[in-house]
Amino acid sequence: MKETIDIILNECLTELDNNPTQDEIQSVKVKFLGKNGRLTALLKGLKDLSPQEKPLVGQLVNLARERIEAKIAAVEEAVKQQKLKEKIESEYIDITADFTHGKRGALHPLSMVNKQLMEIFSDMGFVVKEGPEVETDYYNFQALNTPLDHPARDMQDTFYITESILLRTHTSPNQVRVMEQSRPPIKMICPGKCYRVDDDATHSPIFNQIEGLVVDKNVTLCDLKGTIEAFSKKFFSDSTKVRLRPSFFPFTEPSVEVDLTCSNCGGKGCRLCKGTGWLEVLGAGMVNPFVLDNCGIDSQIYSGFAFGFGIDRMTMIKYGISDIRLMYQNDIRFLQQIVG
Ligand code: DAH
Repeated sequence: MKETIDIILNECLTELDNNPTQDEIQSVKVKFLGKNGRLTALLKGLKDLSPQEKPLVGQLVNLARERIEAKIAAVEEAVKQQKLKEKIESEYIDITADFTHGKRGALHPLSMVNKQLMEIFSDMGFVVKEGPEVETDYYNFQALNTPLDHPARDMQDTFYITESILLRTHTSPNQVRVMEQSRPPIKMICPGKCYRVDDDATHSPIFNQIEGLVVDKNVTLCDLKGTIEAFSKKFFSDSTKVRLRPSFFPFTEPSVEVDLTCSNCGGKGCRLCKGTGWLEVLGAGMVNPFVLDNCGIDSQIYSGFAFGFGIDRMTMIKYGISDIRLMYQNDIRFLQQIVG
């Protein structure tokens, strides 16, 4: 009997010796220790033995059982450890590894500046509006007090699509669109692409403008100056000063040209400002009563100021870019110098 037990024991231990999987361990358990297992069968057979043999064989079977159980526990622990090791290895992250980021995209300088400008004006209470790039002659010119035969049309060489449809030459038509759709108080800013038959170092056939419009009771030229000053200080620097010069636009009366102290030399005079200390940055004025009345806003009660400037020009000044065309060629070497 002892021999039989030893054979079973050895057979069982051998099966457990060969790096068994969890499933294999399970079948060994069933095969030897289960309800119909081989060792269990021996225990069941004890009742047929003589009273002298019973305790002896019983003890041997129990010893064998204990050894098998100990072995199973050890093998199961090994399997568990192995699984844990594999999991750790597969999830390993070397936090000390030299990790250099791949190249990331960045906003185009014009988009970046546009975003900054919108943030500044939004903080000052302006509502951002947009309008169509393909415009009618009415909104682009006539409603802005520029009839067909008006000499001011020569100021802007226009891309016409038909006789009465064109690519907008400025963002000013949105003054009219907004005034037609809303009542004062109005405080809006409108960025967008504009088009003109023009192409040199400071003019591109496609360029970006921002239009600003404020209409309410008692709006004055002082409000215009204060608004431009507050904006310029935020966009350039706190020491920026503003100067107004008389000018002409059909849709404003009076009209002004706005200069800022040169952001490059602070007003001392340099190459950027051609020695004058001032940079001409925008056109502006008090909204012409004709335009207000034309949009159904009573010019006896309300007044307003408007301004328009080139986002391209602002970007060029801020980053010292000398040729506007660089911003439309998308040469990555140039763009990286600006946005990093
Ligand atoms: N639209 C003008 C241009 O493109 C700029 C301008 C001047 C806009 C005076 C205005 C303004 O709103 O009041 O040259």
